Amino acid sequence: MDVIICRDDAEVGAYAAAKVAKVAQAVQKVGKNVVIGVATGSSPLATYAALAKLVEDGKLDLSQASAFALDEYVGLPQGHPESYREVIRRTVAEPLRMRSDRVHVPDGFADDLEQAAADYEQAIKDAGGVDVQILGVGSNGHIGFNEPTSSLNSRTRIKTLTPRTRADNARFFDTPEQVPHHCLTQGLGTIMDARHCVLVASGQGKAEAVKAVVEGPITAMFPGSVLQMHPAATVIVDEAAASALELGDYYRQMYDNLPDWQRVVLG
Ligand code: F6R
Repeated sequence: MDVIICRDDAEVGAYAAAKVAKVAQAVQKVGKNVVIGVATGSSPLATYAALAKLVEDGKLDLSQASAFALDEYVGLPQGHPESYREVIRRTVAEPLRMRSDRVHVPDGFADDLEQAAADYEQAIKDAGGVDVQILGVGSNGHIGFNEPTSSLNSRTRIKTLTPRTRADNARFFDTPEQVPHHCLTQGLGTIMDARHCVLVASGQGKAEAVKAVVEGPITAMFPGSVLQMHPAATVIVDEAAASALELGDYYRQMYDNLPDWQRVVLG
């Protein structure tokens, strides 16, 4: 696992975007269409803004790329502005100039949610798998909506949100009661199949979760800790989110001494 400690959220976004762009360009170089896994929430917004700038400047072309969202609420009406289908359209598809028919979100509106989950797994497979997965982390250590005690091998399925996650996400709704109780989420096994994982986190509120993901034991109690088993996971955090890390100085020293070929150049 690579751990990159940045000054602030903007630098986290710039670094993560450079990393995603590097993977995308390598995939495109061998004549394939890149598949990007995308998260919702506040954490990846700086990454999307930096990616949008690369697209705008003509340094990155995602017009043939596909995207797969991690999750979707169950129980919101179609077209609700906080449904992840809408959030992904606003924050990812449009700014990154992606084709809307290539941007996928689990169908949390389906009558048959189990079938929708199976279809989503198949769609990811049919697209050739995810090349690079962008992740945030919940204050309780979840990735996607894989709440504590999720199977480390899980696939896309229905989950119940914890009270803590519902409280954390209440800021997006008029009242806390409006936050749905259920969701469809990619499983931890699904996320682990991505060829690269890039987790971004900023702010003191994520310090405990980041410590658990990076340095804690691998445990279903902190589902993001499964990334310690991923062969190509990069965790990019600001100083506040890094503040509980025991080996912070080591990660900084490692980054300062990276050979040029391993360095991700900020765009
Ligand atoms: C969102 C998702 C979640 C969020 C996490 C952090 O699609 O899968 O795991 O990444 O809840 O949310 P923010 O970034 O809003 O703190």
